[in-house]
Amino acid sequence: MGRTKLIVIFSLLPFVLIQQGYTQTTEEFLVTDFDGGGILPDAWSSYGDLGPYGVQPGRPNSDGKYYELVWNGSTTQGYIVSQSEITFRLIPKRKLKEKNIDNVYLKLDVNCGSAPGTVVNIVLVDGPNDCCTNEVNWIYSFTKNTCDWETIEINLAEFGYAYDPNNHEKSIDIHKVGRVKIGMDVFSGPQRQTVQFDNVALVVKDKVKKYNADTEIADDTTLKKRANDFYVGVAVNPRRIKDTDYSTLYKKEFNSITAENAMKMKSILKGMDTNGNLVYDWTESDRIVDFAEINNMNLHGHTLIWYESIPDFLKDFKGTNEAFETIIEKYITNVVSRYKGKVDSWDVVNEAIADGTSDLRKSVFLERMGPDYVKKCFQYAKNADQEVKLFYNDYGLIYDKKKQQGAFTLVDDLIAENLIDGVGYQLHIDFNFPSKLDIKTATDLIVQRKLLVHFSELDVKTNPKGDIETFTESRSHAQGKKIYEVVSVFNSLPKEYKYALTLWGLKDDDSWITPRYGFPDWPLLFDSTFQKKRAYSGFLQALE
Ligand code: G3I
Repeated sequence: MGRTKLIVIFSLLPFVLIQQGYTQTTEEFLVTDFDGGGILPDAWSSYGDLGPYGVQPGRPNSDGKYYELVWNGSTTQGYIVSQSEITFRLIPKRKLKEKNIDNVYLKLDVNCGSAPGTVVNIVLVDGPNDCCTNEVNWIYSFTKNTCDWETIEINLAEFGYAYDPNNHEKSIDIHKVGRVKIGMDVFSGPQRQTVQFDNVALVVKDKVKKYNADTEIADDTTLKKRANDFYVGVAVNPRRIKDTDYSTLYKKEFNSITAENAMKMKSILKGMDTNGNLVYDWTESDRIVDFAEINNMNLHGHTLIWYESIPDFLKDFKGTNEAFETIIEKYITNVVSRYKGKVDSWDVVNEAIADGTSDLRKSVFLERMGPDYVKKCFQYAKNADQEVKLFYNDYGLIYDKKKQQGAFTLVDDLIAENLIDGVGYQLHIDFNFPSKLDIKTATDLIVQRKLLVHFSELDVKTNPKGDIETFTESRSHAQGKKIYEVVSVFNSLPKEYKYALTLWGLKDDDSWITPRYGFPDWPLLFDSTFQKKRAYSGFLQALE
């Protein structure tokens, strides 16, 4: 895959300190507005002779692919275009004073040039005044989905955390940076692509609503009370709903549940008897359904069809494809009918698209039922219950653009047949990835289609690379902030498209993440002693 890389680092220009309590309305510090005409060496063309307007080419790096630009502060019209793999920087002339970034926004006009889907990484850099040695980069990544000029504003405090290159054990708090350069790093698609940007400015805002890691939580506040126009859900299992410590919190905080495993095919469908009848075990799924009913909670059914949850007898089924399809139709019909009026929504098909592609994942369903299997399954579910809401659910749809494209092709086909009500983004994410803007942009794809949005399996890994042994303050802050961002995005959706935001478990030590990845992790809102974490207050704050 070709890759275009550009980094522009620009001067911060006269920069006013914003002290705590200092009142000031929004103020823009126009940094650069490219205009004129002329071409910069090798990779950049500009609609403007940038030299006279204040941007001058500097020295190439050792590969000859790096140029340093020094910004002198022009305000005329124009824009610059990156055309190949090359890096440019505009070096700031002033230090950004620490602790000011909560109120500081980077504002710029961006166009993807010729390639929708271009990923743009904006990089904040802290390091010495010479280029590139001992620098620490914080990345803010977003995707430019359409080719038109768009103004974006990013709070500097929303940049992901980075590692100190000299001390990998330690993560760096972005608020502590003494010197900041701002750049852009553009990843292209298969062909040479361009990204255009213009009117780059810093904006300092007063009274910005921001995440505060250490707000007090009022005793009578709960997640479900705060979220007044969508469901707040939690993944449960039959054992925990019988445990008073768990069930008390489930009932207090949440108004929706999803069975973490108990309503999957492998849990319900046990085999086929000698007469060819399907054998079911409803014990565990009934318990979940009863719990939701007794406690008047919304129940999201997860999941009718998933390539990871197939009973062995079906994996090794020796019958014809027609016979296989009949079993799937019967299974979906039976499950959906049994819980008609009790299950409010179903993930009909889970994770149908293969990672890094737009293609259907290889599975026994695809093999036996053909590429229309997703549509068929939705149709069976719809036939069994006209009222229940039907969802397509998947992971990686925020950052895996090919997968996103494949998933929405599938979704559009289902829309055309009037078979789908919503899309679930699982959101098994990291404390520093993906960005709020990417979550928002990807979520808009659901809203644009007038479908319900379910953030269906939210958890935030705090140790994705296994570099910590205990839950650090810094990761706890970062997790709180990431949850805050996710909930802010969800909450800002039009009311009619907000379905539910579901946590994938209650407390850290119950999560699937540590057993799966082998690193200790603390991905949920409650700690192992049922105490609320910063992630909990981050959730609440986003709804204030
Ligand atoms: O039931 C056995 C139990 O008898 C045994 O004591 C235990 C020992 O490890 O294993 C139990 O089964 C495990 C089951 O979870 C219940 O704990 C399975 O081995 C294990 O594979 C299963 O993992 C679940 C996984 O899906 C696969 O079904 C996770 O709990 C569950 O969180 C996870 O959830 C999925 C979503 O359904 C879809 N999206 C991704 C998400 C995370 O993988």
